Amino acid sequence: MIKIENLTKSYGDLEAVKQVSFNVEPGEVLGFLGPNGAGKSTTMKMIAGFLSPTQGRISVCGHDVESDSMAARKIIGYLPEGAPAYGEMTTAAFLRFIGELRGMSASNLEARITEVVRQLNLSKVLEQPIDTLSKGFKRRVGLAQAILHDPLVLILDEPTDGLDPNQKQEVRSLIQGMSKDKIIIISTHILEEVHAVCNRAIIISGGVVLADATPDELEARSRYHQAVTLVSPGAEDIASKLKGLADVSKVEVEGNQVTAFPKSGKQIFSQISTLITQHAWQVSEVQLERGRLDEVFRTITMKGGRS
Ligand SMILES: Nc1ncnc2c1ncn2[C@@H]1O[C@H](COP(=O)(O)OP(=O)(O)OP(=O)(O)O)[C@@H](O)[C@H]1O
Ligand SMILES: [Mg+2]
Repeated sequence: MIKIENLTKSYGDLEAVKQVSFNVEPGEVLGFLGPNGAGKSTTMKMIAGFLSPTQGRISVCGHDVESDSMAARKIIGYLPEGAPAYGEMTTAAFLRFIGELRGMSASNLEARITEVVRQLNLSKVLEQPIDTLSKGFKRRVGLAQAILHDPLVLILDEPTDGLDPNQKQEVRSLIQGMSKDKIIIISTHILEEVHAVCNRAIIISGGVVLADATPDELEARSRYHQAVTLVSPGAEDIASKLKGLADVSKVEVEGNQVTAFPKSGKQIFSQISTLITQHAWQVSEVQLERGRLDEVFRTITMKGGRS
């Protein structure tokens, strides 16, 4: 497991990461969320052993990242932000170079290269210098080197950044497929991704952890949690009728969309469904809301209050 205790990083006067502590267990896919400049990449660099903390400790599967760094690095795969170094190398040469650096045996290395090239659809760019690849392909080569030695721990800094929609989907499936016995930390700005791949999310802002919860728990903090949204040309009329329901606290209309919010602890979906049928309202969509992560993210990071 990963243990992070009181991790702090200062760049001159700026404290980019402040007293951050959390543990991550095998099987967890932890999504690291936060506004630009929150300290996500800085934290990930320290976990991967690429940056020394100013204060605090990190241990990865019992190995201290500072004092036992070789052992820790062996079990970590790290995708940094941006493009891979060694841009003059071809994709194939780069992967071979990384594998040799990691001390992989020749036969294992060839087998793993074949596997990651398949997983990340790199066969067309194997002989192309990395500098000349498109942004998305550079990202995919970066991911390939991170998973090449099949590490127990993956630290992936915005793994789907710059990927086309198909590749985003493939990389999410790849991460999910690998997640069973591994410890995976990803950072992302794409909130749907949190639901698609993570079973835990940490929100940081200004270097401070503001929330640590499952995606479901975060959604439950949304004002839209358990609200009912429906789409109808008669939105205003429907809204005035829904306002009369005893369990409804508030109704909002936006264009042809109506959202009814339940009073605390009340369920309103079935009542509203019944009304729709009874009155034969012209409704093209009706949805029980889980909660909106973008709104929760905004509330938590704008207020900056701990929760
Ligand atoms: N080498 C450095 N020297 C000085 N300041 C730095 C350095 N690296 C990062 N910072 C600062 O530390 C803070 C955190 O940066 P970091 O890259 O960790 O943010 P982030 O959460 O990854 O943001 P983004 O979402 O934009 O990737 C920022 O204010 C950044 O400007
Ligand atoms: Mg970053």
